[in-house]
This record gives sequence, structure tokens and C-alpha cells, in this order.
Amino acid sequence: MRKLLAVLGLVAFVGTGVAMAGKCDSCHKGDKALDKLTKAKGIDSCEKLLDALRKGPKAGLHKKFTDDDVKAECKVLNLK
Ligand code: HEC
Repeated sequence: MRKLLAVLGLVAFVGTGVAMAGKCDSCHKGDKALDKLTKAKGIDSCEKLLDALRKGPKAGLHKKFTDDDVKAECKVLNLK
């Protein structure tokens, strides 16, 4: 029984960790971190970020994100 609880606790812990890490960070880290990527692509506003995600060549990868998800990320990136 103890073991089972320990496993459940671990799953919950790891699960929250992933959720807290931000929706974009799971793929965008290191060289592909969003702050570097947006600079390299000249994305300097939230509108451009939305545009890149909706109409860009990588739109398919970002389909599951809502506008609100992207806007939340804009705040993190300090985009207007
Ligand atoms: C499933 C993995 C994944 C997630 C999650 C993800 N991306 Fe991406 N994204 C990619 C890949 C792969 C590329 C292509 C990288 C490259 O061109 O080197 C990319 C490219 C981009 C680009 C450049 C677009 C272009 O036109 O070249 C932007 C901006 C971007 N992502 C923003 C985001 C934002 C904002 C989020 C969170 C809302 C996000 N991504 C979440 C995988 C992901």
C-alpha cells in the first residue's frame, strides 16, 4: 500500500511539474528557446507571434494552442 501511494505521489508531482513548465517550453528550450527564436525571426510583437503560429510554415505544430495560450506566452516574452 505504501508503495502504491508513493507511486501515485510521484505521478502527481511530475504531472504538475510538466504543467508548470509552460506550454511552449517542452519543445522550445536550449537553442530553440522562444526568446532566441523570436529574435532570430524578427518577431517583436504579439501580433507577429500569432501570425507566425497561424500562417507560418510551422502552423501545424501549433494548432492545438489557442490565442489565449499564445497571448500568455507573449507576456512571458515581453512582447506587445
Ligand atoms: C510540439 C512541440 C512544440 C510546442 C509545444 C511548441 N512549438 Fe513552436 N515550434 C516547434 C518546432 C519544431 C518549430 C520549428 C523550429 C525551427 O524551425 O527550427 C517551432 C517553431 C516556432 C516558431 C517559429 C515559427 C516560424 O515561422 O518559423 C515560433 C514563433 C514558435 N514555434 C512559437 C511557439 C509558441 C509561442 C508555443 C507555445 C504556445 C510553441 N511554439 C509551442 C515545436 C513546438
